[in-house]
Amino acid sequence: MSLPTRTGRNERDFVLEDAEFEVIRQLVRQHTGIALSDSKRELVYSRLVRRLRRLGMDNFGDYIDLLQTGPDEELEEFSNAITTNLTAFFRENHHFEYLTETALPMLQKRNAASRRLRIWSAGCSTGEEPYSIAMVLQAEMSRFAGWDVRILATDIDSQVLGHAMAGRYAADRVERVPSRYARCFTANDDGTHSIRADVQSLISFRQLNLMQPWPMRGPFDIIFCRNVVIYFDKPTQVELFGRISSLQREGDYLFVGHSESLFKVCDRYDLIGKTAFRRLPG
Ligand SMILES: C[S@@+](CC[C@H](N)C(=O)[O-])C[C@H]1O[C@@H](n2cnc3c(N)ncnc32)[C@H](O)[C@@H]1O
Repeated sequence: MSLPTRTGRNERDFVLEDAEFEVIRQLVRQHTGIALSDSKRELVYSRLVRRLRRLGMDNFGDYIDLLQTGPDEELEEFSNAITTNLTAFFRENHHFEYLTETALPMLQKRNAASRRLRIWSAGCSTGEEPYSIAMVLQAEMSRFAGWDVRILATDIDSQVLGHAMAGRYAADRVERVPSRYARCFTANDDGTHSIRADVQSLISFRQLNLMQPWPMRGPFDIIFCRNVVIYFDKPTQVELFGRISSLQREGDYLFVGHSESLFKVCDRYDLIGKTAFRRLPG
């Protein structure tokens, strides 16, 4: 049984025809790179029905017309609705341990002349990933005193970026932060926790669609691109990691998500640990 919504319509009053799902699938693929399988039909339906209701529309055909002929703002809302933004502080913590124990000491030596460190969190969602990187860097700052250290954090989704920039998190989100980084937060009266300004100031947040041209030229000493390409098909992954590799030099680091791999995707990296890679020469 479907329940009446606040607008008085039952959710199932909206019908998503096969042909409409196909068009939506193509639009998602073109705009975000995300390849939706048939099994995602229900998910797409429930996320887009909310947009239809908000816009006062009563069918998917009109919504598709709006996407194809209307202002770009709706394409942005559309991709915000489709993207999956699951993340956590110190998710796949072995990467952050590797950073502290191996990558940062190595880069301290390698970049001693330039005294410059550049890190990119590509697909940063609500900010937990770049803030985890910043906390590690902050703890290691004695290595990099006087250095030019910057983290670029990008995502296609304007909504999650707004959250990331605010840097304010519910208590249960902060629980997984190792206690040695507790000093990176200040507690607010409402029970939330804010990232301290000195940690936040290491990061520049920018909206960036990985499928479109990128304004930055690199090189990046370290790139985190984790749990993003899992939603892309192989040809899109090949193209993306080709572009990512062109922003890195020999010896630079790349971290991908736990279920992702560069096998038959990009041969410009050497596997050096669990989902951790270093750029090969050339
Ligand atoms: C599952 S989250 C991963 C967050 C974080 N990297 C982590 O591993 O915890 C995937 C993120 O990729 C973003 N994303 C998906 N397609 C994108 C695209 N074409 N360009 C930029 N970001 C994209 C989504 O908006 C989402 O925030």
